[in-house]
Amino acid sequence: MWEDEHISQYLLMAHLSQETDSASRKRSTIIKTIDWIETILRKKGATILDLGCGPGLYSEVLAERGHEVTGIDFSRRSVDYAKREAKKKDLHIEYIYANYLDDLPEAFRNRFDLAMMIFCDFDVLVPNDRAVMLKNVLSALKPGGLFIFDTLNTKAPEKMNHIGKSWELEETGFWKREPYLALSETFDYPEAKVILQQHIVIFEPHQLSESNQLSKSEQLSESEQYRVYRFWNHYYSTDTLEQILSACGFSEIENHDNLLPEDGLGSREMVTFYSAI
Ligand SMILES: C[S@@+](CC[C@H](N)C(=O)[O-])C[C@H]1O[C@@H](n2cnc3c(N)ncnc32)[C@H](O)[C@@H]1O
Repeated sequence: MWEDEHISQYLLMAHLSQETDSASRKRSTIIKTIDWIETILRKKGATILDLGCGPGLYSEVLAERGHEVTGIDFSRRSVDYAKREAKKKDLHIEYIYANYLDDLPEAFRNRFDLAMMIFCDFDVLVPNDRAVMLKNVLSALKPGGLFIFDTLNTKAPEKMNHIGKSWELEETGFWKREPYLALSETFDYPEAKVILQQHIVIFEPHQLSESNQLSKSEQLSESEQYRVYRFWNHYYSTDTLEQILSACGFSEIENHDNLLPEDGLGSREMVTFYSAI
């Protein structure tokens, strides 16, 4: 989704919007989060790795405050935007278009005072990828370096359930430039502590065929008629996360609740921040 040519335009708008907390949080929340991060970091001019930096909303504020920031993201559109903005604002930030699950550059080894991953990106990782990411973070951190991230906690199903089922019929919109019908549903799998957000996006068949021949729908493969987007979000109890982090070599694991402002969607209650060394 982050790399889709059409959807990534809407995602960038969502990142930048001050009306919604989707994709990125609002600027006032970002500033508060960074104020809090700095109280834990307690270091001026720190080297910081912003994993999944998106359009650089945190990276910029941190750079403005005198930190040396590197942002990594695999959304080309976001990284290009972040680079343009940094240039405009004369901020020295290193933005890298890369997947943080791949081997990180050798120059990253033991380089950072802080690695951060904000907006519950931790939750979308399946256990294998999560282990790879944690290994990458550990190797990029200086000894004693800090890792800060946020996750959904066990209040998430109750808080997110109100989303339930919904549908939208659009001429053009988030999912497609062409008319579409999107059927969205949220499922909770409590044994696995996973919430699935599923979106079935059905396109108008006549938009799909260039040839305009008879029996178009027969000519279309299923994948050309609809797409299913599934976003699996893990949510974690503090005990589970402590086990996961310490098994990967982290220590001094602390949870921090109620850091986000009330947003009417339950984020304050269902998002927990963690710091670990
Ligand atoms: C929800 S956004 C959060 C962006 C930013 N942290 C913020 O809060 O403003 C998640 C970002 O992580 C990026 N991302 C997700 N998985 C990634 C991966 N494996 N490697 C690099 N970037 C990734 C996406 O492209 C997207 O920009």
